[in-house]
Amino acid sequence: MPAIDRRQFLQRSGAVLLPAILPVAAMAGQSTKQELPADEPPVNFFGDGADFNPAQYIETLQKANAKEPIRRDFYGQGGAVAALEKKMAEITGKEKAIYMPTGTLANQLAIAELSGANTKVFVQDMSHVYRDEADAAQSVFGKRLMPLGMGQTYFTAAELKDAIDGLKSKEVFASGIGAVSIENPVRRTDGRMVPIDEISKISAYCRENKIPLHMDGARIFMTAAWSGVSVKEYASYFDTVYISLYKYFGTAGGAVLCGNSSLIDKMPHLIKIHGGTVFGNWVNAAMALHRMEGFEGRMKESIQKANIVFEGLNKIKGLKVTTLDGGTNIYAFEIGSGINAGTLQQKLNKDFGIRIPPADKNGKTTLTVNETILYREPAYIIKAFESCVS
Ligand SMILES: Cc1ncc(COP(=O)(O)O)c(C=O)c1O
Repeated sequence: MPAIDRRQFLQRSGAVLLPAILPVAAMAGQSTKQELPADEPPVNFFGDGADFNPAQYIETLQKANAKEPIRRDFYGQGGAVAALEKKMAEITGKEKAIYMPTGTLANQLAIAELSGANTKVFVQDMSHVYRDEADAAQSVFGKRLMPLGMGQTYFTAAELKDAIDGLKSKEVFASGIGAVSIENPVRRTDGRMVPIDEISKISAYCRENKIPLHMDGARIFMTAAWSGVSVKEYASYFDTVYISLYKYFGTAGGAVLCGNSSLIDKMPHLIKIHGGTVFGNWVNAAMALHRMEGFEGRMKESIQKANIVFEGLNKIKGLKVTTLDGGTNIYAFEIGSGINAGTLQQKLNKDFGIRIPPADKNGKTTLTVNETILYREPAYIIKAFESCVS
């Protein structure tokens, strides 16, 4: 079996990322077992996108540069950063977009700015803003986060209305509602999404009551791929939208915040006073621009391939893959008691370059679909699992 050509991989890892590297025909009549060199691209059933090591990152950027010379920015102005901001504004249908060093800063600055002097901000209990931003809203921005939808993926418009109406009787000294923030999909509930109907209702309620609405859309391209609702439609219900650059576009970091010009124009100053102004950001911006090309098509193909793979895995005795209720790219995976889950994980990785997360003591884990599924043909992946459990 020919080893995967790393140069070829890197060459292809831009616009069309990796078609089948190992066609099934190549496996006919021989064992599917192979020892993969460490730097060959594995199929990762975790994470939301391709993950480039430094050499791959540099070569991917070189490819982008060969196509069109990358232009640098200065403190976030001009060059690849300006081009990325233009593209993101177009995709979201917002007036303007701005590059942010992190998603945390994008969320916090957007919420703080939307809220003005009002302190209450309604968020999902399971959201990144509520649980994973080190209480920045409270400690740095003077906001009081009000969690709703306890332990759930989302809260409903009715729940939001009840919570706001209830304040009149539950609290003595009224203070204004600053904003509402919605994360979609929700990382802490295995990438489950907020239904578009509920978003529409929440947005209508907020607009009627002049309450600004922010979307933590770190992975909104994933929601769009699985729901069939465009990023632009999602964004249309919100005043501000943050999108991560590194979750699935392969950058080393960075984010983009989109919204009205009046709000976005305040950001350079706010980023600076919070210590977030970076001299050069073009490495991330150029990578994102390059990897966004054809992304939608690659996700469509990834979903198609995943459906074939999971149908195949479900025919293997002791393996079961199921979709999550309201889920996006994360699927439940059960490994029967007759199969050693640890051995399966190790063999898939070592012999076939397929990585799955460890299972719990009941053999339960998840399989996350991202574009690395395109690195092998579905039949190869199915056969790999088959041979690792037998
Ligand atoms: C849903 C969500 N929002 C925001 C962030 C923050 O992004 P960053 O790491 O760029 O601060 C993350 C990162 O894990 C996230 O998953």
